[in-house]
Amino acid sequence: MDWHIHKAQTLHCELEVPGDKSISHRAVMLASLAQGSCVIRGFLPGEDCLSTMEAFRALGVNIERLAPTTLVIHGTSGKFHAPAGDLDCGNSGTTMRLLSGLLAAQPFESRLVGDASLSKRPMKRVIEPLARMGAHIEAETRPDRPPLKVHGGSLKAIDYVSPVASAQVKSAILLAGLFAEGSTSVSEPNLSRDHTERMFEYFGISVKRSGLRASVEGGQRPQPRDFRVPGDISSAAFWIVAAAVRPGWRLRLKQVGLNPSRTGLLGILTRMGARVREFEHSNLGEPIGTLEIEGAALKATRIEGKEIPNVIDELPILAVAAALAEGTTIIADAAELRVKETDRLAAIASHLKAMGVNVVEHPDGLEITGRKSLQGATLDSLGDHRIAMAFAIAGLFADSETVITGTECVNTSYPGFYEVLQKVLAHRLGADPLVISQEPEEAIEV
Ligand code: S3P
Repeated sequence: MDWHIHKAQTLHCELEVPGDKSISHRAVMLASLAQGSCVIRGFLPGEDCLSTMEAFRALGVNIERLAPTTLVIHGTSGKFHAPAGDLDCGNSGTTMRLLSGLLAAQPFESRLVGDASLSKRPMKRVIEPLARMGAHIEAETRPDRPPLKVHGGSLKAIDYVSPVASAQVKSAILLAGLFAEGSTSVSEPNLSRDHTERMFEYFGISVKRSGLRASVEGGQRPQPRDFRVPGDISSAAFWIVAAAVRPGWRLRLKQVGLNPSRTGLLGILTRMGARVREFEHSNLGEPIGTLEIEGAALKATRIEGKEIPNVIDELPILAVAAALAEGTTIIADAAELRVKETDRLAAIASHLKAMGVNVVEHPDGLEITGRKSLQGATLDSLGDHRIAMAFAIAGLFADSETVITGTECVNTSYPGFYEVLQKVLAHRLGADPLVISQEPEEAIEV
Protein backbone atom coordinates (compact mmCIF):
# COMPACT_ATOMS: atom_id res chain seq x y z
CA MET A 1 0.00 0.00 0.00
CA ASP A 2 1.16 3.55 -0.79
CA TRP A 3 0.73 6.38 1.68
CA HIS A 4 -0.21 9.84 0.36
CA ILE A 5 0.82 12.61 2.72
CA HIS A 6 0.31 16.34 2.60
CA LYS A 7 1.40 19.22 4.77
CA ALA A 8 -0.01 19.12 8.32
CA GLN A 9 -1.72 22.19 9.80
CA THR A 10 -0.90 21.44 13.39
CA LEU A 11 -0.06 18.74 15.90
CA HIS A 12 -1.76 18.94 19.28
CA CYS A 13 -2.18 15.48 20.54
CA GLU A 14 -2.35 13.11 23.51
CA LEU A 15 -1.11 9.72 22.43
CA GLU A 16 -0.27 6.18 23.51
CA VAL A 17 1.92 4.01 21.31
CA PRO A 18 2.05 0.19 21.04
CA GLY A 19 4.35 -1.91 23.23
CA ASP A 20 8.12 -1.76 23.05
CA LYS A 21 9.57 -4.12 20.45
CA SER A 22 12.85 -4.94 22.21
CA ILE A 23 11.08 -5.53 25.51
CA SER A 24 8.29 -7.64 23.95
CA HIS A 25 10.88 -10.02 22.43
CA ARG A 26 12.64 -10.40 25.77
CA ALA A 27 9.39 -10.82 27.71
CA VAL A 28 8.50 -13.83 25.53
CA MET A 29 12.00 -15.25 25.94
CA LEU A 30 12.28 -14.84 29.70
CA ALA A 31 8.74 -16.13 30.31
CA SER A 32 9.47 -19.15 28.07
CA LEU A 33 12.58 -19.86 30.15
CA ALA A 34 10.74 -19.39 33.46
CA GLN A 35 9.95 -22.08 36.00
CA GLY A 36 6.17 -21.50 35.77
CA SER A 37 3.54 -19.32 34.07
CA CYS A 38 3.73 -15.56 33.38
CA VAL A 39 1.16 -13.07 32.09
CA ILE A 40 2.63 -10.53 29.69
CA ARG A 41 0.53 -7.41 29.09
CA GLY A 42 1.15 -4.68 26.55
CA PHE A 43 2.91 -7.12 24.17
CA LEU A 44 3.61 -5.56 20.76
CA PRO A 45 1.51 -7.42 18.17
CA GLY A 46 3.97 -6.46 15.43
CA GLU A 47 5.36 -9.03 13.00
CA ASP A 48 8.84 -9.08 14.57
CA CYS A 49 7.57 -10.01 18.02
CA LEU A 50 5.06 -12.46 16.56
CA SER A 51 8.04 -14.19 14.87
CA THR A 52 9.59 -14.60 18.32
CA MET A 53 6.32 -15.88 19.79
CA GLU A 54 5.88 -18.44 16.98
CA ALA A 55 9.49 -19.60 17.30
CA PHE A 56 8.98 -20.39 21.00
CA ARG A 57 5.73 -22.19 20.22
CA ALA A 58 7.68 -24.26 17.67
CA LEU A 59 10.17 -25.04 20.46
CA GLY A 60 7.35 -26.54 22.51
CA VAL A 61 6.34 -23.59 24.72
CA ASN A 62 2.62 -23.27 25.39
CA ILE A 63 1.74 -19.62 24.69
CA GLU A 64 -1.90 -18.57 24.99
CA ARG A 65 -2.86 -15.34 23.29
CA LEU A 66 -5.81 -14.03 25.32
CA ALA A 67 -5.94 -10.71 23.48
CA PRO A 68 -3.70 -9.18 20.78
CA THR A 69 -1.50 -7.70 23.50
CA THR A 70 -1.95 -10.23 26.33
CA LEU A 71 -0.03 -13.50 26.48
CA VAL A 72 0.01 -16.25 29.07
CA ILE A 73 3.28 -18.11 28.71
CA HIS A 74 3.86 -21.44 30.43
CA GLY A 75 7.63 -21.54 30.88
CA THR A 76 9.64 -24.73 30.45
CA SER A 77 12.61 -23.95 32.75
CA GLY A 78 14.78 -23.68 29.67
CA LYS A 79 14.03 -27.15 28.28
CA PHE A 80 12.81 -26.85 24.71
CA HIS A 81 11.79 -29.45 22.10
CA ALA A 82 13.52 -29.82 18.76
CA PRO A 83 11.40 -27.86 16.26
CA ALA A 84 9.68 -29.80 13.47
CA GLY A 85 10.91 -27.36 10.80
CA ASP A 86 12.84 -24.12 10.26
CA LEU A 87 12.40 -21.31 12.78
CA ASP A 88 11.30 -18.31 10.73
CA CYS A 89 12.64 -15.04 12.17
CA GLY A 90 11.00 -12.96 9.40
CA ASN A 91 12.54 -9.47 9.33
CA SER A 92 13.75 -9.58 12.91
CA GLY A 93 17.46 -9.41 13.74
CA THR A 94 16.62 -9.50 17.46
CA THR A 95 14.78 -12.81 17.04
CA MET A 96 17.61 -14.43 15.11
CA ARG A 97 20.51 -13.19 17.22
CA LEU A 98 18.96 -13.75 20.66
CA LEU A 99 17.56 -17.15 19.67
CA SER A 100 21.03 -18.19 18.46
CA GLY A 101 22.27 -17.66 22.02
CA LEU A 102 19.49 -19.73 23.55
CA LEU A 103 19.60 -22.51 20.97
CA ALA A 104 23.37 -22.80 21.27
CA ALA A 105 22.75 -24.58 24.60
CA GLN A 106 19.93 -26.93 23.51
CA PRO A 107 20.72 -30.59 22.85
CA PHE A 108 19.36 -30.54 19.27
CA GLU A 109 19.92 -28.93 15.93
CA SER A 110 17.84 -26.03 14.66
CA ARG A 111 17.79 -23.91 11.53
CA LEU A 112 17.04 -20.17 11.65
CA VAL A 113 15.81 -18.47 8.49
CA GLY A 114 14.74 -14.92 7.67
CA ASP A 115 13.33 -12.74 4.91
CA ALA A 116 15.42 -11.16 2.12
CA SER A 117 16.52 -8.22 4.32
CA LEU A 118 17.48 -10.35 7.34
CA SER A 119 19.32 -12.77 5.02
CA LYS A 120 21.74 -9.95 4.18
CA ARG A 121 22.56 -8.99 7.78
CA PRO A 122 25.84 -9.95 9.49
CA MET A 123 25.73 -12.82 11.99
CA LYS A 124 29.45 -13.24 12.71
CA ARG A 125 28.97 -10.91 15.66
CA VAL A 126 27.02 -13.67 17.45
CA ILE A 127 28.53 -16.77 15.77
CA GLU A 128 32.04 -15.90 16.93
CA PRO A 129 31.42 -15.41 20.69
CA LEU A 130 29.01 -18.35 20.82
CA ALA A 131 31.65 -20.54 19.11
CA ARG A 132 34.07 -19.51 21.86
CA MET A 133 31.52 -20.82 24.36
CA GLY A 134 31.63 -24.17 22.55
CA ALA A 135 28.62 -23.82 20.22
CA HIS A 136 28.78 -24.77 16.60
CA ILE A 137 26.83 -22.39 14.36
CA GLU A 138 27.06 -22.55 10.59
CA ALA A 139 26.04 -19.73 8.28
CA GLU A 140 24.83 -21.66 5.25
CA THR A 141 25.34 -19.35 2.32
CA ARG A 142 28.05 -16.74 2.74
CA PRO A 143 30.60 -16.63 5.56
CA ASP A 144 28.29 -14.96 8.07
CA ARG A 145 24.80 -14.50 6.62
CA PRO A 146 21.57 -16.43 7.44
CA PRO A 147 20.18 -19.09 7.27
CA LEU A 148 21.97 -20.30 10.40
CA LYS A 149 22.25 -23.92 11.46
CA VAL A 150 22.72 -24.13 15.22
CA HIS A 151 24.17 -27.40 16.55
CA GLY A 152 23.49 -26.95 20.26
CA GLY A 153 25.38 -28.55 23.13
CA SER A 154 27.04 -27.86 26.45
CA LEU A 155 28.61 -24.43 26.83
CA LYS A 156 31.49 -22.96 28.80
CA ALA A 157 31.55 -19.44 30.24
CA ILE A 158 33.56 -16.72 28.49
CA ASP A 159 34.68 -13.19 29.23
CA TYR A 160 33.92 -11.47 25.94
CA VAL A 161 35.02 -8.00 24.83
CA SER A 162 32.58 -7.08 22.08
CA PRO A 163 33.92 -4.90 19.25
CA VAL A 164 30.41 -3.44 18.70
CA ALA A 165 28.00 -1.71 21.08
CA SER A 166 25.10 -4.05 20.30
CA ALA A 167 22.35 -5.11 22.68
CA GLN A 168 21.63 -8.04 20.39
CA VAL A 169 25.18 -9.38 20.74
CA LYS A 170 25.28 -8.71 24.48
CA SER A 171 21.90 -10.39 24.99
CA ALA A 172 22.73 -13.46 22.89
CA ILE A 173 25.81 -14.07 25.06
CA LEU A 174 24.06 -13.40 28.38
CA LEU A 175 21.19 -15.75 27.42
CA ALA A 176 23.71 -18.45 26.45
CA GLY A 177 25.52 -17.70 29.74
CA LEU A 178 22.46 -18.88 31.68
CA PHE A 179 23.28 -22.37 30.38
CA ALA A 180 27.09 -22.24 30.69
CA GLU A 181 29.18 -23.49 33.56
CA GLY A 182 30.63 -20.54 35.52
CA SER A 183 30.30 -16.80 35.07
CA THR A 184 29.85 -15.34 31.56
CA SER A 185 30.74 -11.67 31.02
CA VAL A 186 30.33 -9.23 28.14
CA SER A 187 31.94 -5.80 27.87
CA GLU A 188 30.93 -3.36 25.17
CA PRO A 189 32.63 -0.23 23.83
CA ASN A 190 29.62 1.98 24.70
CA LEU A 191 26.46 1.15 26.61
CA SER A 192 23.73 -0.34 24.40
CA ARG A 193 20.14 -0.74 25.59
CA ASP A 194 20.09 -2.70 28.85
CA HIS A 195 16.67 -4.39 28.73
CA THR A 196 18.11 -7.88 29.06
CA GLU A 197 20.01 -6.97 32.23
CA ARG A 198 16.99 -5.19 33.77
CA MET A 199 14.60 -7.97 32.84
CA PHE A 200 16.96 -10.64 34.20
CA GLU A 201 16.86 -8.80 37.52
CA TYR A 202 13.07 -8.40 37.43
CA PHE A 203 12.66 -12.12 36.76
CA GLY A 204 14.97 -12.98 39.69
CA ILE A 205 18.21 -13.71 37.82
CA SER A 206 21.20 -12.08 39.42
CA VAL A 207 23.38 -10.01 37.03
CA LYS A 208 26.52 -8.15 38.03
CA ARG A 209 26.89 -4.82 36.23
CA SER A 210 29.82 -2.52 36.41
CA GLY A 211 30.19 0.23 33.83
CA LEU A 212 30.22 -1.33 30.38
CA ARG A 213 30.44 -4.92 31.65
CA ALA A 214 27.65 -7.32 32.58
CA SER A 215 28.10 -10.86 34.00
CA VAL A 216 25.73 -13.69 34.70
CA GLU A 217 26.29 -16.94 36.59
CA GLY A 218 25.23 -20.09 34.72
CA GLY A 219 22.46 -22.38 35.93
CA GLN A 220 19.96 -19.63 36.87
CA ARG A 221 16.39 -19.65 35.52
CA PRO A 222 13.77 -16.86 35.61
CA GLN A 223 11.13 -16.95 38.34
CA PRO A 224 7.56 -16.77 37.03
CA ARG A 225 6.48 -13.10 37.15
CA ASP A 226 3.78 -11.08 35.43
CA PHE A 227 5.11 -8.20 33.38
CA ARG A 228 3.85 -5.08 31.61
CA VAL A 229 5.57 -3.93 28.43
CA PRO A 230 5.78 -0.12 28.22
CA GLY A 231 4.96 1.86 25.05
CA ASP A 232 7.84 1.92 22.58
CA ILE A 233 9.85 5.14 22.75
CA SER A 234 11.24 4.33 19.29
CA SER A 235 7.68 4.37 17.89
CA ALA A 236 6.86 7.48 19.92
CA ALA A 237 9.97 9.12 18.43
CA PHE A 238 8.18 9.77 15.12
CA TRP A 239 5.49 11.84 16.85
CA ILE A 240 7.97 13.41 19.25
CA VAL A 241 9.98 14.82 16.35
CA ALA A 242 6.82 15.87 14.49
CA ALA A 243 5.80 17.96 17.52
CA ALA A 244 9.31 19.21 18.30
CA VAL A 245 10.09 20.95 15.01
CA ARG A 246 7.34 23.60 14.96
CA PRO A 247 6.72 26.34 17.57
CA GLY A 248 3.28 25.94 19.15
CA TRP A 249 2.92 22.23 18.34
CA ARG A 250 2.41 20.00 21.36
CA LEU A 251 2.35 16.34 22.28
CA ARG A 252 1.67 14.41 25.47
CA LEU A 253 2.67 10.74 25.44
CA LYS A 254 1.36 8.35 28.07
CA GLN A 255 2.57 4.94 29.26
CA VAL A 256 5.86 5.17 27.38
CA GLY A 257 9.13 3.45 28.28
CA LEU A 258 11.71 5.83 29.76
CA ASN A 259 14.71 3.52 30.07
CA PRO A 260 17.70 5.91 30.02
CA SER A 261 19.51 3.65 27.53
CA ARG A 262 16.73 4.51 25.05
CA THR A 263 15.90 8.18 25.71
CA GLY A 264 18.90 9.84 24.02
CA LEU A 265 16.51 11.37 21.50
CA LEU A 266 15.01 13.58 24.21
CA GLY A 267 18.38 15.07 25.20
CA ILE A 268 19.23 15.73 21.56
CA LEU A 269 15.94 17.49 20.83
CA THR A 270 16.32 19.55 24.01
CA ARG A 271 19.81 20.56 22.84
CA MET A 272 18.27 21.56 19.50
CA GLY A 273 15.77 23.83 21.31
CA ALA A 274 12.60 21.77 21.91
CA ARG A 275 10.97 21.71 25.34
CA VAL A 276 10.77 18.18 26.72
CA ARG A 277 9.47 17.09 30.13
CA GLU A 278 9.62 13.55 31.55
CA PHE A 279 7.53 12.16 34.43
CA GLU A 280 8.29 8.62 35.58
CA HIS A 281 5.25 6.91 37.12
CA SER A 282 6.34 3.34 37.77
CA ASN A 283 9.36 1.11 37.54
CA LEU A 284 8.49 -2.57 37.57
CA GLY A 285 11.47 -3.87 35.67
CA GLU A 286 11.36 -0.97 33.22
CA PRO A 287 10.62 2.71 33.92
CA ILE A 288 7.28 3.88 32.47
CA GLY A 289 5.93 7.43 32.41
CA THR A 290 4.60 10.44 30.54
CA LEU A 291 6.39 12.79 28.17
CA GLU A 292 5.43 16.31 27.17
CA ILE A 293 6.94 17.93 24.10
CA GLU A 294 6.60 21.55 22.96
CA GLY A 295 7.94 22.48 19.55
CA ALA A 296 10.40 25.25 18.70
CA ALA A 297 12.51 26.52 15.82
CA LEU A 298 15.28 23.92 16.17
CA LYS A 299 19.02 24.50 15.81
CA ALA A 300 21.55 22.06 14.33
CA THR A 301 23.64 19.79 16.59
CA ARG A 302 26.30 17.02 16.57
CA ILE A 303 25.30 13.43 17.30
CA GLU A 304 28.27 11.08 17.73
CA GLY A 305 30.30 8.79 20.00
CA LYS A 306 28.64 7.18 22.97
CA GLU A 307 25.31 8.84 22.19
CA ILE A 308 24.94 6.73 19.01
CA PRO A 309 23.89 3.34 20.53
CA ASN A 310 21.27 5.18 22.59
CA VAL A 311 19.61 6.59 19.44
CA ILE A 312 20.52 3.85 16.98
CA ASP A 313 16.87 3.33 15.93
CA GLU A 314 16.00 7.04 16.12
CA LEU A 315 18.65 8.33 13.69
CA PRO A 316 16.32 8.23 10.64
CA ILE A 317 13.76 10.46 12.37
CA LEU A 318 16.49 12.62 13.96
CA ALA A 319 17.81 13.17 10.43
CA VAL A 320 14.36 14.52 9.52
CA ALA A 321 14.55 16.87 12.55
CA ALA A 322 17.98 17.99 11.30
CA ALA A 323 16.54 18.64 7.83
CA LEU A 324 14.11 21.13 9.42
CA ALA A 325 16.58 22.77 11.83
CA GLU A 326 18.67 25.87 11.27
CA GLY A 327 22.29 25.03 10.39
CA THR A 328 24.24 21.87 9.60
CA THR A 329 23.79 18.82 11.82
CA ILE A 330 26.62 16.27 11.93
CA ILE A 331 25.93 12.59 12.59
CA ALA A 332 29.16 10.57 13.03
CA ASP A 333 30.30 7.14 14.37
CA ALA A 334 27.09 5.61 13.01
CA ALA A 335 28.40 3.03 10.50
CA GLU A 336 26.15 0.44 12.23
CA LEU A 337 23.25 2.06 10.37
CA ARG A 338 24.58 0.47 7.19
CA VAL A 339 23.72 -3.04 8.48
CA LYS A 340 20.17 -2.42 9.72
CA GLU A 341 16.99 -3.47 7.85
CA THR A 342 18.48 -1.52 4.94
CA ASP A 343 21.58 0.68 4.61
CA ARG A 344 19.97 3.52 6.54
CA LEU A 345 22.72 6.10 5.91
CA ALA A 346 22.31 5.65 2.14
CA ALA A 347 18.50 5.63 2.41
CA ILE A 348 18.36 8.79 4.53
CA ALA A 349 20.80 10.62 2.23
CA SER A 350 18.97 9.74 -0.99
CA HIS A 351 15.48 10.41 0.41
CA LEU A 352 16.42 13.75 2.01
CA LYS A 353 18.08 14.83 -1.25
CA ALA A 354 14.87 13.94 -3.11
CA MET A 355 13.06 16.30 -0.69
CA GLY A 356 15.44 19.14 -1.58
CA VAL A 357 17.80 18.88 1.40
CA ASN A 358 21.55 19.39 1.15
CA VAL A 359 23.16 16.20 2.53
CA VAL A 360 26.75 14.94 2.49
CA GLU A 361 27.14 11.20 3.09
CA HIS A 362 30.22 9.85 4.91
CA PRO A 363 31.15 6.19 5.55
CA ASP A 364 29.98 6.54 9.17
CA GLY A 365 27.56 9.42 9.09
CA LEU A 366 25.85 12.38 7.47
CA GLU A 367 25.99 16.18 7.30
CA ILE A 368 22.50 17.58 6.93
CA THR A 369 21.78 21.26 6.29
CA GLY A 370 18.29 22.19 7.40
CA ARG A 371 15.70 24.26 5.55
CA LYS A 372 12.33 25.80 6.48
CA SER A 373 10.22 23.27 4.59
CA LEU A 374 10.75 20.25 2.36
CA GLN A 375 9.73 19.32 -1.19
CA GLY A 376 7.28 16.46 -1.67
CA ALA A 377 8.66 13.33 -3.37
CA THR A 378 7.82 9.69 -4.06
CA LEU A 379 10.01 7.59 -1.76
CA ASP A 380 10.32 3.85 -1.32
CA SER A 381 10.52 2.32 2.16
CA LEU A 382 13.27 -0.02 0.88
CA GLY A 383 11.55 -2.62 3.06
CA ASP A 384 12.59 -0.71 6.21
CA HIS A 385 9.85 0.24 8.67
CA ARG A 386 11.77 3.13 10.21
CA ILE A 387 12.61 4.64 6.81
CA ALA A 388 8.91 4.47 5.84
CA MET A 389 7.76 6.16 9.07
CA ALA A 390 10.55 8.77 9.23
CA PHE A 391 9.78 9.96 5.71
CA ALA A 392 6.03 9.88 6.28
CA ILE A 393 6.70 12.40 9.09
CA ALA A 394 8.95 14.40 6.73
CA GLY A 395 5.93 14.55 4.38
CA LEU A 396 3.99 16.52 7.05
CA PHE A 397 6.46 19.38 6.44
CA ALA A 398 6.60 19.24 2.62
CA ASP A 399 5.05 21.88 0.34
CA SER A 400 3.67 19.29 -2.09
CA GLU A 401 2.44 15.70 -1.81
CA THR A 402 4.77 12.96 -0.49
CA VAL A 403 4.10 9.33 -1.44
CA ILE A 404 5.68 6.47 0.51
CA THR A 405 5.65 3.13 -1.31
CA GLY A 406 6.20 -0.36 0.14
CA THR A 407 4.71 0.50 3.53
CA GLU A 408 3.74 -3.06 4.62
CA CYS A 409 7.07 -3.32 6.48
CA VAL A 410 5.72 -0.89 9.11
CA ASN A 411 3.73 -3.77 10.60
CA THR A 412 6.99 -5.21 11.94
CA SER A 413 7.13 -2.57 14.68
CA TYR A 414 4.14 -0.20 14.59
CA PRO A 415 0.80 -1.65 13.47
CA GLY A 416 -1.66 1.28 13.37
CA PHE A 417 0.91 3.98 12.52
CA TYR A 418 -0.90 5.04 9.34
CA GLU A 419 -4.26 5.35 11.13
CA VAL A 420 -2.66 7.78 13.59
CA LEU A 421 -1.04 9.65 10.69
CA GLN A 422 -4.40 10.04 8.95
CA LYS A 423 -5.92 11.49 12.13
CA VAL A 424 -3.01 13.94 12.42
CA LEU A 425 -3.51 14.96 8.77
CA ALA A 426 -7.23 15.55 9.31
CA HIS A 427 -6.67 17.61 12.48
CA ARG A 428 -7.40 21.30 12.08
CA LEU A 429 -5.97 24.32 13.87
CA GLY A 430 -8.19 25.40 16.77
CA ALA A 431 -9.85 21.96 17.15
CA ASP A 432 -9.73 20.08 20.48
CA PRO A 433 -6.52 18.08 21.00
CA LEU A 434 -6.50 14.68 19.33
CA VAL A 435 -6.61 11.81 21.83
CA ILE A 436 -5.38 8.42 20.65
CA SER A 437 -5.20 5.52 23.13
CA GLN A 438 -4.26 1.87 22.86
CA GLU A 439 -7.09 -0.66 23.32
CA PRO A 440 -7.94 -1.13 27.02
CA GLU A 441 -7.07 -4.62 28.26
CA GLU A 442 -9.51 -6.96 29.91
CA ALA A 443 -8.79 -8.14 33.42
CA ILE A 444 -7.85 -11.81 33.28
CA GLU A 445 -7.37 -14.53 35.83
CA VAL A 446 -4.90 -17.32 35.21
C1 S3P B 1 17.73 -4.23 19.49
C2 S3P B 1 18.98 -3.70 19.47
C3 S3P B 1 19.46 -2.77 18.44
C4 S3P B 1 18.30 -2.14 17.67
C5 S3P B 1 17.24 -3.12 17.30
C6 S3P B 1 16.71 -3.85 18.51
C7 S3P B 1 17.40 -5.18 20.56
O1 S3P B 1 20.29 -3.48 17.53
O2 S3P B 1 18.77 -1.48 16.52
O3 S3P B 1 16.16 -2.46 16.64
O4 S3P B 1 16.20 -5.46 20.78
O5 S3P B 1 18.32 -5.69 21.22
P1 S3P B 1 21.84 -3.71 17.88
O6 S3P B 1 21.90 -4.21 19.25
O7 S3P B 1 22.34 -4.73 16.91
O8 S3P B 1 22.47 -2.37 17.68
